[in-house]
Amino acid sequence: MSEGENTLYPVPARLHDASQCPEPYVKSVEQYKEMHRESIENPEKFFGKLANELLTWSKPFTTVKHGGLEHGDAAWFLDGQLNASYNCVDRHAFADPNRVAIIYEADEPNQSENITYGALLRDVSQLAGVLRARGIKKGDTVAIYMPMIPEAVIAFLACARIGALHSVIFAGFSAEALRDRVQDAGCRLVLTADQGKRGGKTIETKRIVDEALKACPSVETVIVCQRTGADVPMTPGRDYWWNEETSKRMTYLTPEPMSSEDPLFLLYTSGSTGQPKGVLHTTAGYLLGAAATVKYVFDYHPNDIFACMADVGWITGHSYIVYGPLALGATTVLFESIPTYPTPARYWELIAKHKVTQFYTAPTAIRALRRLGDEWVEGHDLSSLRVLGTVGEPINPEAWHWYNDKVGKGRCAIVDTYWQTETGSHIVTPLPGAIPTKPGSATVPFFGIDLAILDPVTGKELVGNDVTGVLAVKKAWPSMARTVYGNHQRYLETYLKPYHGFYFTGDGASRDGDGYIWIRGRVDDVINVSGHRLSTAEIESALIMHHSVAETAVIGAPDDVTGQCIHAFVCLKPGISQHSTDLTKELILQVRKVIGPFAAPKKIYLVEDLPKTRSGKLMRRILRKIIAGEADSLGDISTLADPSVVEVLIAKVAKA
Ligand code: WTA
Repeated sequence: MSEGENTLYPVPARLHDASQCPEPYVKSVEQYKEMHRESIENPEKFFGKLANELLTWSKPFTTVKHGGLEHGDAAWFLDGQLNASYNCVDRHAFADPNRVAIIYEADEPNQSENITYGALLRDVSQLAGVLRARGIKKGDTVAIYMPMIPEAVIAFLACARIGALHSVIFAGFSAEALRDRVQDAGCRLVLTADQGKRGGKTIETKRIVDEALKACPSVETVIVCQRTGADVPMTPGRDYWWNEETSKRMTYLTPEPMSSEDPLFLLYTSGSTGQPKGVLHTTAGYLLGAAATVKYVFDYHPNDIFACMADVGWITGHSYIVYGPLALGATTVLFESIPTYPTPARYWELIAKHKVTQFYTAPTAIRALRRLGDEWVEGHDLSSLRVLGTVGEPINPEAWHWYNDKVGKGRCAIVDTYWQTETGSHIVTPLPGAIPTKPGSATVPFFGIDLAILDPVTGKELVGNDVTGVLAVKKAWPSMARTVYGNHQRYLETYLKPYHGFYFTGDGASRDGDGYIWIRGRVDDVINVSGHRLSTAEIESALIMHHSVAETAVIGAPDDVTGQCIHAFVCLKPGISQHSTDLTKELILQVRKVIGPFAAPKKIYLVEDLPKTRSGKLMRRILRKIIAGEADSLGDISTLADPSVVEVLIAKVAKA
């Protein structure tokens, strides 16, 4: 570990100056330690209290915690009833209908719009009424494939209101990827839009849905919101206009009482295999995790303006655009555009315009903006900011310092939040008023997280400091995923069986001499491109579907901006020429078509052969080394069936 990384940066004094900032909820390392200790030693008391403080229950729970990691049966707040939509909308609308719930910052900068809690309650109720009228009942699954417009948030909450599970599919996924996810969950209804707008470009959202639904017999209804008003094809008897339908419905619909462990949503994510899995979250534990982390990790106080730049199609959008902030009655910013549209000052203009207090983005965006020059960030009034968050991948110290100095002006807390789709909310993170930070370290476990670093081979817990291994959690926590939709066995096998009694994250990690956690990246075949999680197997299976491909190996290569990027080695079928330039383009298109544009390989190497052992096992390690320019430390290659392929590959990569 380099010395620079290991410097401890104290909590900025401004955060403890009552004349400048509200008093942080957690004020010192000692207070954090005491609260963390209680959350682990007495979770019943800690989370029982928190659940009553942050959530409103229509029927109180009798048991805080049941089951656990041993049998994969963790359950929280049993016997309790609550509705997530009520918690995120009604109770705040009743208290103050004019409070702004959503600031919609549209693709074009001059088109922002505020949606109050009162309006949100009407809109959510009306859409919930439409879903009901179309026969959607508690426990049914509804797909949401939408641009970043307020109706997307309304869609989440309308499903939650009637107890339907939403499955949001990121609008960057292709028709084929959408089809697979809709089929897997047996969705009965799809909520979508005519088109999307992003960075000045138009996305043909409805056309993609039409293409996907050619092979989704479970879908009976499609509700189409008008984002642009374009003339899009509508299938009679299946497709209906959002506004026409909602305008028929009453402006208040009673929320369905939900048990704590009733499913709230599923969200597909990539794992080691080619088949994405529908990670399932339940109502009370998930909502509590999202709300508690907005409160403590972002130190959210009433009247703060909370801005998470993620897309609602990923877990970060679920927890930190929708459920967490709205559960606390916050004002949440919904950003439809990209950080560089119309100029690289867009984020900073947004912060100044809306007086954002908490800002949350990904290291890849920070790196990209840093490269474009300081002049874009200078001259904007960023004095409203208190907490700057990052998520999705480790943040390199250069990017951390730029964020801290140029954006935070050294006056804000930087929170590097580590978590996953499966964890529901942050699990390793600093707390703004309490934890000194180290650039690149996600620092310390959140409340309720009993962290462990395990020896990857023996599975033995590595206790004490200065250890490196795989990251795991020892006890169930409220917002952990409960199952994989329709495949509990896969849930057990992926997360709970690799190290018996532990939840396995799939990430490598170290604990340094000060007890700080450093995430080292995935130890499985998952890669992380601009914070988008992809499996190499998923990309390989997309490529192999192309008629000229015989075999392929995809690996994640380091990239200065996107963290990792995709390199694909492709062996062609006999008789197909390697020298066709169109073929590389075609293969990239193939991945865009099967998964989506964000999964496109950066480099494709057309090769004769891949490095394999005599038993036919592909040696990815060798490919990774060649890409990383470490061909001089390949290790023993004598076990390869044909060691001479290595030289050929080195030459190929060098030429590319
Ligand atoms: C990675 C995103 C280092 C990690 C919320 C994890 C991180 C995967 C961080 C989950 C961070 C996320 N530092 N790595 N602060 N945050 N990761 O499910 O590899 O899309 O396993 O959830 O992102 O990605 P997912």
